[in-house]
Amino acid sequence: MPCDLFGGYTVMVSKTFYIETFGCQMNAHDSEKVIGTLEQQGYARVEDEGEAGLILYNTCSIRDKAEQKVFHRLNEYKRLQGEGKKFAVLGCVAQQEGERIFEKAPYVSLVAGSASYRNLPEMLRRLEAGEQRITGLDDRQTDLTFETEFTARSNPHRGYITIIEGCDKFCAYCVVPYTRGKERSRTSASVLVEARKMVDLGYTEIQFLGQNVNSWRDPSDSSGRMSFAELLVAVGELPGIRRVRFTTSHPRDFTRDIVQAIDATPTLCDHVHLPVQSGSNGVLKAMAREYTREWYLERMSWIKAAKRDISITSDMIVGFPGETDADFEETITLVGEVKYDAVFAFKFSPRPNTPAVTMADSISDEVKTERLRILMDRQREIQREHYGRHLGQVQECMVESYNVSRNQVVGRSSQNKTVNFTTRQNGAQIARAQPPVGSYVPVRITQTLPNCLVGEAMADSAEASAFVPMPRVPQFVVLN
Ligand code: SAH
Ligand code: SF4
Ligand code: F3S
Repeated sequence: MPCDLFGGYTVMVSKTFYIETFGCQMNAHDSEKVIGTLEQQGYARVEDEGEAGLILYNTCSIRDKAEQKVFHRLNEYKRLQGEGKKFAVLGCVAQQEGERIFEKAPYVSLVAGSASYRNLPEMLRRLEAGEQRITGLDDRQTDLTFETEFTARSNPHRGYITIIEGCDKFCAYCVVPYTRGKERSRTSASVLVEARKMVDLGYTEIQFLGQNVNSWRDPSDSSGRMSFAELLVAVGELPGIRRVRFTTSHPRDFTRDIVQAIDATPTLCDHVHLPVQSGSNGVLKAMAREYTREWYLERMSWIKAAKRDISITSDMIVGFPGETDADFEETITLVGEVKYDAVFAFKFSPRPNTPAVTMADSISDEVKTERLRILMDRQREIQREHYGRHLGQVQECMVESYNVSRNQVVGRSSQNKTVNFTTRQNGAQIARAQPPVGSYVPVRITQTLPNCLVGEAMADSAEASAFVPMPRVPQFVVLN
C-alpha cells in the first residue's frame, strides 16, 4: 500500500503472505493460481508464517473430521492475531463451514470456496481496505471457471491444467459436489492456449486435472468442439510436449477412444487412474456410483486389450454403511482380477451434508481397520508379483530428485512409477554429475519392489539428449 513517508517520497510497504495447502492435486493447483493472483496484486510470498502479513489456509474436507483439524489449526493462528496479521480460509472446509468460521475464529477476515476464486482480486482489495468478514461462498451454481494467466507453478518442468471444475455426480459418501459446486468445463481453445504457453516456458509434462477429468465436455460451439480424447491428443502433439497425464477419471464417463488415443499417441502416459470404490454391486448401488462391477470390468478389458501396457490404479473405500463380509470379499476378488499397480484405500468416513451420513454407520472402526489391512496386504502381494513384468525393460524416466545417501537418482516412469536409478559411465558410477531434474533418461530396470522400481541409466549413451542440462536448473547437482 503506498504511504507517504518523509520528504514526499512514496514507498511501497511490502505486502507478504504465507499459504498452507491440504488436499488433492486440484487444491494444490488452486493454490498455485491463488499465489499467482496474490503476486500479481503486489504481494510477496514468504515461507515463514511469522513474517507474513496475510496467512491463507487452503483446506480439504474429504475425510476424517477435516473441519475439526482446521479449527484446531486456526486456534494455533490465534496467537499471531495480536501481530496485526490477517487470516483467510479457502478451499473445501471454507465452503462447507462458511460463516461458522467467523464465529469460531473471529480473527479470520476472508472465507472463500474454490468456485469464487475468480473474484479474489476484488476480495483482496476489500481485505486491504480493512473490511472484516468477506465471503466468497455463493458461487456453487456458477458456470464460470477460474482461469488466470497468473499461475505460480511450483515445478518448472511438469505442470497442472484444471480442465473441469466441480462435480455433479453426488456419490452418497462424498462432500465434493457440495464444496466445489457444479460441474463446469473450460473450452478446448482456452486449455490449448494455456498448454502452448507452458510449452513456451519449457514445460515438457502436462497433467490435466478434474474431479472427474474425463467428464470434460467442450463448451465450444460445434465447429471447434473436441472430445476429451481429442483434447488429450491435441496437447500430446504440441511440439516439445513429452508427457500428458490426466486424473481422476470416472468409470461412468470412461470411453474406449481414451484407450485408443493412448495407444496411438506415445506422449500420452500409459497410466489410467480409475477409482472403483467397491467390488460389490450392492455397495456400488448404495454409494450411487451408477455403474456395476461388470461395467467397470468391461472398461478394464478395453485397457488391457491395448497394445501398450497401460498401468491401472484405483481408489477404494472399505466399511461403507451396510458393507457385509461378502461385499468386502468381492472387493478383494476384484483387486485380484484387475491386478492394479496401486490402490489408495480409505476407511469410510461420514461427511457432513452427504446422504451416507444419515445411513446407519453400522461398521465398527475395528472392522474397517481390519478390512483396510486385508485389502492393503492383498494389494502389496499383487504389486510384488505384478511389478516383476518390468524386470529387464528399458523405461524412460523423468528425473525428479536425488537420493544423496544412496547415490541414486529418483525418476518417474510414464506409468507414474517411482524409479530409483544409478548412473554409470565407462562402467564407473558417476559420483559427481547426474542428469538434471526435469530431464528424461532411459533406465534399465534391474530390480522390482512392491512400491518402486530400481535400475541403471543406460550406459554411456548418457543419452546425449538426456544429460543436456535443462534451462532453469543447475547444470549438475553435486552429490556429497
Ligand atoms: N472424483 C473421484 C474421486 C475424488 S475423491 C471419483 O469419483 O473417483 C478421492 C477419493 O477419496 C475417492 O475416490 C474416495 O475413494 C475417497 N473418499 C471420498 N469421500 C470419502 C469418504 N467420505 N470416506 C472415505 N473415503 C472417501
Ligand atoms: Fe465425489 Fe463421486 Fe464426485 Fe468423485 S464422482 S468427486 S467421489 S461425488
Ligand atoms: Fe479435498 Fe476438496 Fe480436493 S475435499 S480432496 S480439497 S476437492
